[in-house]
Amino acid sequence: MDDLRQKYLNAIADAADEGKLEEIRLAAMGKQGEVALKMRELGKMTPEERQVAGPALNALKDEITSALAAKKSALADAALDERLRAEWLDVTLPGRPRRMGTLHPVSQVTEEVTAIFADMGFAVAEGPQIESDWYNFDALNIPPEHPARQEHDTFFMAREAGDNRPPHVLRTHTSPVQIRAMQLHGAPIRVIAPGRVYRMDMDQTHTPMFHQVEALALDRDISMANLKWVLEEFCRAYFEVDQVELRFRASHFPFTEPSAEVDIRCSWTGGQLKIGEGDDWMEILGSGMVHPKVLQAAGVDPNEWQGFAFGMGIDRIAMLKYGIPDLRAFFESDLRWLRHYGFAALDMPTVHGGLSR
Ligand code: DAH
Repeated sequence: MDDLRQKYLNAIADAADEGKLEEIRLAAMGKQGEVALKMRELGKMTPEERQVAGPALNALKDEITSALAAKKSALADAALDERLRAEWLDVTLPGRPRRMGTLHPVSQVTEEVTAIFADMGFAVAEGPQIESDWYNFDALNIPPEHPARQEHDTFFMAREAGDNRPPHVLRTHTSPVQIRAMQLHGAPIRVIAPGRVYRMDMDQTHTPMFHQVEALALDRDISMANLKWVLEEFCRAYFEVDQVELRFRASHFPFTEPSAEVDIRCSWTGGQLKIGEGDDWMEILGSGMVHPKVLQAAGVDPNEWQGFAFGMGIDRIAMLKYGIPDLRAFFESDLRWLRHYGFAALDMPTVHGGLSR
């Protein structure tokens, strides 16, 4: 019996896994196991012998059973330790940023422009890209025979045969959103309207679809002086320079009186554009005091309210700020271009936290 005990206790101690342990259990305690066979021998013994051998055999059974249980839980502990070692993770390591696509420069610049004007109290207004000719032209003081209609190279929507109403257009500028915003909110009002616009045009600096941002500010005594301050403030913030100089050139738009095109002082040295210094001027937008007829068309009383409006090309100021040479590449969806000129998707531009960083 001592031999048996030694044999099985050694085997249990040496068992490397649960499978091996189960083999040992069957060999010792199974129906045909060595201990079971010994149990059967009890029957052939004399009562005296049995009194000695019986308890001893039971003790052996108990000993092997508890050795098996102890080994089993030791193996489980070891397996758990091993797993914990393998799955160890240092949660104090810094995060590794994963780049999941990029923001298009147009989206980035739209966010930047919106952040700057939001800081000056402008809300964002929207309008449809398929616009009626009344909103796109008439309400903006561009009557049907006005040459500006031709200048805009308008895309016209189709009408059903026999429908003689004037066709809708793909809006040629964001100015119709002025009318919609005034109709919705009346005066006083301060809004910008960024969005897509369409004209039949295609070369290195023109695409049939491009982006503008419109601004409209109406109150009882808003003047060109306010326009000038707002634009200077905008340019300083947008181009991230301390000093800018703007030049107002008399111009003509049907929807403003007086009208001005605005240039910004800059220099081009070695193909590198610098804003705020130098001897060059670059046009960045059209602007003016909203024409009384435009206010009237939108249901705002021109005897009570006045203000300024301007319209600026978003793609253009994106090209200027980020040195992007060809406008057509903006809309080709070339991944290499997007990775090069794109922006991290989760960095929201704010005026205080930095626009482009
Ligand atoms: N709508 C004009 C265009 O697309 C730009 C413009 C000029 C907008 C003067 C204005 C403005 O609001 O006052 O060419």
